[in-house]
Amino acid sequence: MLSFYFSLHIIAVTSWIMFLLQFIKSLQHQRINEGYVFGFLSLFFLVVTFYLGIKLIGFNHDIFKSGGWLHLKITLALMLGIENIYYFYKFVRRKKISLKLAEINYWMTYLIFVFILFLTLFRPF
Ligand code: HEM
Repeated sequence: MLSFYFSLHIIAVTSWIMFLLQFIKSLQHQRINEGYVFGFLSLFFLVVTFYLGIKLIGFNHDIFKSGGWLHLKITLALMLGIENIYYFYKFVRRKKISLKLAEINYWMTYLIFVFILFLTLFRPF
C-alpha cells in the first residue's frame, strides 16, 4: 500500500509542477482559456500532492525524525502552494502581472522544485 501512495505522490508532484509552470506562462501572456485549464489542474494536483504527502507521513511517523530535509521540503512546497493559489486569485480577478515578474517566478518555481527533489532524494541533513 505504501508503494502505491508513494508512486501516486510522485505522479501528483510531477503533474502539479508541470501545470503550475504552464499556468504561470498562460498568466504571463494573458491566455484566458488556457489559464483556466492549467490553473484548475495545478490546484487539483497541489491538493493531491499534499494529501498524499501527509498520507505517507502517516505511514511512517519516524520520518519526521530523519532530519531537517523533510521540514525544509514541506516549507518550500507550502511556498509554491501559496504562490499557486495567489496567482490563481489574480488570474480570476483579471489582474495583470508584469512580464518580468512572471518570468522570474517561472524560473524560481522550477529551481525550487528541483531543490525539493534534491532534498528528498539526497536527504543532505
Ligand atoms: C513539490 C513538492 C514535492 C516534491 C517534488 C516531492 C517529491 C518526492 C519524491 C521524489 C519522493 C520519493 C523519494 C524517494 O524515492 O525516497 C517523495 C516522497 C515523500 N514525500 Fe514528497 N514531494 C513534494 C511534496 C511533499 C509534501 C508537501 C509532503 C508532505 C506534506 C511530502 C512528503 C513526502 C513523504 C513523507 C515521502 C516519503 C519519504 C520516504 O518514506 O522515503 N512531499 N516526495
